[in-house]
Amino acid sequence: MYHGAGQGLCILPVIYAGASVRLGRKFSHKTFWPEVSESKANRLQYVGELCRYLVNAPPHPLERKHNVEEAWGNGMRPDVWNIFRERFNIPVIHELYAATDGMGSTFNRNKGNFSSGAIGVRGLLWHSKHGANELRARIDPDTEDIVRDRNGFVIRAAVGEPGEVLHRIDPAMAESAFKGYYKNDTATGKRWLRGVFEPNDLFFRSGDVMRVDVDGRTYFVDRLGDTFRWKSENVSTNEVADVLGQFEQIAECNVYGVSVPNADGRCGCATIVPGSSTSIDTFDFARLAQHVLGKLPRYSVPLFLRMAPELSYTGTFKIQKGQAKREGIDLDLIEQAGSKDRLYWLPPGSTIYVPYRREDWEALKAGKVKL
Ligand SMILES: *[C@@H]1O[C@H](CO)[C@@H](O)[C@H](O)[C@H]1NC(C)=O
Ligand SMILES: *[C@@H]1O[C@H](CO)[C@@H](O)[C@H](O)[C@H]1NC(C)=O
Ligand SMILES: *[C@@H]1O[C@H](CO)[C@@H](O)[C@H](O)[C@H]1NC(C)=O
Repeated sequence: MYHGAGQGLCILPVIYAGASVRLGRKFSHKTFWPEVSESKANRLQYVGELCRYLVNAPPHPLERKHNVEEAWGNGMRPDVWNIFRERFNIPVIHELYAATDGMGSTFNRNKGNFSSGAIGVRGLLWHSKHGANELRARIDPDTEDIVRDRNGFVIRAAVGEPGEVLHRIDPAMAESAFKGYYKNDTATGKRWLRGVFEPNDLFFRSGDVMRVDVDGRTYFVDRLGDTFRWKSENVSTNEVADVLGQFEQIAECNVYGVSVPNADGRCGCATIVPGSSTSIDTFDFARLAQHVLGKLPRYSVPLFLRMAPELSYTGTFKIQKGQAKREGIDLDLIEQAGSKDRLYWLPPGSTIYVPYRREDWEALKAGKVKL
């Protein structure tokens, strides 16, 4: 209840509408459907990776026997979306995007294929009303800075191109629009961007990267800091995770870019939690390699896998990426952290993932192997 999704999007609207809410004491896929069914609730709220847990869970007799007409929440990934809808017999998925410290939001009440996987649809009406106040700015994926043209102004991302979302603020109202972070002017200052299209305008940086296609469908690409560059190409960790998520032996995964000695940029690495009917010994590394090589451009294929019993999550079911990213493929750091995870890699020219050993790490450090 400490989170905006709990109090601001659920409890307060429920009180306002005179409706009822059923709170679970603790999330478990075993008790979830019995509680949903018994409550006769017609709306279900999800956050983060909750829907993936449900999709990964074994079938439950009550999973289609309930009154839920709409699942509403934030963080449903495209690879889970339609499976969730069909398996659990919930016709409407209402995905939203917003942030407590943000200036804009998106909503997508989705029933069919057209906007499945999107966080919003920006149509003609939206553009006529709000189009001037929100834009996606071109970013440099290495530095994460917003790219400026030769006159010093920001460049709009093209159709289909990922860009950081900015919201226009009236400079006279800046203080009331964003109160800032508590006693932290440095962090507060980083959210403001001035001189975007003219010298004295003011925008708010969302820190989120999105892409809008030619039909106005808006997709969440990454949180800034999650995209990485490999072989001079931009790789979105979420897009790679969505392809891995389609592989049936994978329950959950966390994709990030890792530094490799003697190489520019970062290459893809995925921490993978095998599904409950798979163990590391029966995991099909050859078929996984085939799957990713067939579905992803070569530069986005994760070259390293870290097989783990579980991922670490924040209190709102968002994956914590920091530590795995810092440890990367450095076996010393991984051992120092006391981790028993097993690493695999796709050596140059190989089409199967094989165990990644200390001698491979040494060879990479010595520049004897080039990825
Ligand atoms: C949605 O797309 C899937 C696969 O592309 C297709 O099987 C299904 O019939 C489509 N559903 C509708 C309502 O068009
Ligand atoms: C301000 O916020 C940044 C993160 O944005 C944090 O690293 C830093 O420690 C904070 N400073 C203070 C004084 O709280
Ligand atoms: C990567 O992104 C940057 C900044 O958006 C862009 O200039 C560059 O062309 C992109 N590279 C590729 C290969 O798409």
